[in-house]
Amino acid sequence: MGIIKVQDQQGKFHELEAVEGWRVMEIIREHGLPIKAECGGSCACATCQVEVAPQWAQKLHEIRDDEEDMLDSLPVVTDYSRLSCQIIYQEELDGLELRLTDASLPDGIKTEVAA
Ligand code: FES
Repeated sequence: MGIIKVQDQQGKFHELEAVEGWRVMEIIREHGLPIKAECGGSCACATCQVEVAPQWAQKLHEIRDDEEDMLDSLPVVTDYSRLSCQIIYQEELDGLELRLTDASLPDGIKTEVAA
């Protein structure tokens, strides 16, 4: 057990209990935060995209080709973009910090604040 720290698309911070062996996408979804994750973790949709905090980027396993291909299909990616279904939570990731992006927003949910 451990925690991951997630900033949602509205900018709110959440500390989520994490279970070893679970995909980070599943942990986020299990706690009810908005994440589309349309393909259910098959690395086939990119709607589980997150941005990890820079200090954590090096601690994750390298991006595999199939993850990279899916990230390339998104309009906006950064050096810290990952697919959360491809990150398996392990003890050494206790405290992992990441941010949910608009690419992972479920249909029908808007983040924009009305002007
Ligand atoms: S849930 Fe579809 S790529 Fe991660």
